[in-house]
Amino acid sequence: MPSPFSLPPRGTARFAGLDLLTSAVIILDDKGCVAFANTAAETMLGFSLRTVRGQRLSSMLVNGTLIDELFADARRLEYANKRLDFQLHRPGRDAVQVHAIVTVLHDEPRTPVLLEMQETDQQRRIDREERLHDQSQINRELIRNLAHEIKNPLGGIRGAAQLLQMEMSSPPFAAEMNEYAEVIIKEADRLQSLVDRLLAPHRRARIVGDVNIHEVCERVRSVMMAEYHGGLVIARDYDASIPEFRGDKEQLIQALLNIAHNASQALGAHISRGEAEIVLRTRIVRQVTIARTRHRLALELHVVDNGPGIDAEICDRVFLPLVSGREGGTGLGLTLAQTFVEEHHGTIDFESRPGLTDFRILLPLP
Ligand SMILES: Nc1ncnc2c1ncn2[C@@H]1O[C@H](COP(=O)(O)OP(=O)(O)OP(=O)(O)O)[C@@H](O)[C@H]1O
Ligand SMILES: [Mg+2]
Repeated sequence: MPSPFSLPPRGTARFAGLDLLTSAVIILDDKGCVAFANTAAETMLGFSLRTVRGQRLSSMLVNGTLIDELFADARRLEYANKRLDFQLHRPGRDAVQVHAIVTVLHDEPRTPVLLEMQETDQQRRIDREERLHDQSQINRELIRNLAHEIKNPLGGIRGAAQLLQMEMSSPPFAAEMNEYAEVIIKEADRLQSLVDRLLAPHRRARIVGDVNIHEVCERVRSVMMAEYHGGLVIARDYDASIPEFRGDKEQLIQALLNIAHNASQALGAHISRGEAEIVLRTRIVRQVTIARTRHRLALELHVVDNGPGIDAEICDRVFLPLVSGREGGTGLGLTLAQTFVEEHHGTIDFESRPGLTDFRILLPLP
């Protein structure tokens, strides 16, 4: 028998706004059946409202008894409003931790229940991304100013050392004097190239065109293969349906190359044993928040390596300039990669443990 309780279909003025929310919203009728689900709920539960309308919510979950109990308590009016955290087990998918608010809608006939859910991991990721975003913008400004301040006197120091060297190249000056001047020139040059790298993202005007992400991946892959010929496997796992988007191809190549280089450098020991593997993986994701903006469609580009993982001591700081965990590293690779990705309104994050490091670039798609 159809439920006596009915809600207006999606799209009516009453519920139109719910589809804009990032929280999943489900309204259950007096039998615990789905009467309404917004877009975020459809994504979270992997169903479409059209197909599940009128079905019991609990029957769509592996741990549905939890929903049954919540619903029964609501029907007995044991609470008006309840907050709780639980794991949502969807058939055939990973369990997700969610924070839920359950509200009994007293003013509706036959006490339907409103269930709001938000993935706790998703919220944590958004918070972390926002923090990183703010931090990297401050860093970028600081670096730019500092690099300019260093660059200006550097030319003068080098020029003066060259003049001294010319003056001191013959007796009565001792040969060491010449060598000291040489040290100043060499160190000034080293500093100059560091400053040049720091200022690199601000130097060249962006060239924006249509970018095919797989062309970017393939370019990086061929550069890396040429560098390591043999010993390093670079596997591809591409989603060919990813559409082109507007962007600066060279910047994205540089960003990906920096990440892939780090992976190959971390894989040193594995390369010599012939066990090194990097995977370039592309995927489409829907309804994501990137740098505070909600996007309907985005691409995920993963660079996964089976190396030893990021040193725990620097794990929280790897995107900061001049933070390096390896001999001879300048600590600019990830700072630059982050700058380039953020120029495309995207973000980078990573997960790392021994045996698996996964850098993920998220870029909005049109
Ligand atoms: N895939 C990875 N596996 C292990 N450690 C990593 C990985 N990626 C980055 N790291 C660590 O993060 C540090 C910072 O990387 P970043 O690219 O910013 O600087 P760098 O590689 O040291 O110097 P460069 O400026 O030459 O790139 C690295 O030195 C390394 O210790
Ligand atoms: Mg690097």
